[in-house]
Amino acid sequence: MARRKKIYEGKAKILYEGPEPGTIVQYFKDDATAFNAEKKDVIDGKGVLNNRLSEFFMTGLNQIGVPTHFIRRLNMREQLVRNCEIVPLEVIVRNYAAGTMSKRLGIAEGTQLPRPIVEYCYKDDSLGDPLVTEEHIAAFGWASQQDMDDILSLALRVNDFMSGVMLAVGIRLVDFKIETGRVFDGDFQRLIVADEISPDSCRLWDIETGQKLDKDVFRRDLGNLTDAYSEVARRLGVLPQSNVTKPTLIN
Ligand code: CDP
Repeated sequence: MARRKKIYEGKAKILYEGPEPGTIVQYFKDDATAFNAEKKDVIDGKGVLNNRLSEFFMTGLNQIGVPTHFIRRLNMREQLVRNCEIVPLEVIVRNYAAGTMSKRLGIAEGTQLPRPIVEYCYKDDSLGDPLVTEEHIAAFGWASQQDMDDILSLALRVNDFMSGVMLAVGIRLVDFKIETGRVFDGDFQRLIVADEISPDSCRLWDIETGQKLDKDVFRRDLGNLTDAYSEVARRLGVLPQSNVTKPTLIN
């Protein structure tokens, strides 16, 4: 097979030039990082699970009219996506306090917020993705006012969709991060959901037990990460109940 041109390698994914103009192949690695890559490990099978889970969420979003970059899954670790111009913002939506919001504002983890709260962080690893306001975004030209209106509306629609899908399988969507990108259809520009949506970028807690089923399992050394992600995938029906057909003894 001809070697593909690598466009970019990030912490958890590699992007290759796609087969048609305007497309990209997104490859999901098994690498896990936390605390701005201070903590690192390779977690067998994580990439396969995130590829499937991101496919599941993005397909659902496309079906309800929330545009995403997802075109189709190609194989166990790769999906074909639309090339877009990534807006350099991490868009975080929070339904319950956790992580940096709890630390910053002294709100106990798990406290329900009065309404979903959207935060923006400037995407720059060397700065540790700092929290920014709409003033910074406008002044530095990272996104226009129209972009910001569209990004907010996408983020809230993703939140409603994801919260509902998770609630149906007994999981609380505490918070999540999305990235967005600009695509050009003729003279028109619009914003779509890009990157990935997976337990790497969400906080997911079992509603009954509070058990964490997301990357905090890795960040906080709470157990086996693939077991947690597999549990999410199993509940959503994304993975078969069992991958292994066990031989059965007939008398
Ligand atoms: O995750 P951490 O405590 O560092 O930061 P946070 O601001 O509390 O993260 C809010 C949500 O965004 C969590 O679900 C994170 O997993 C996600 N996030 C992410 O996926 N990537 C980042 N660079 C930052 C946050």
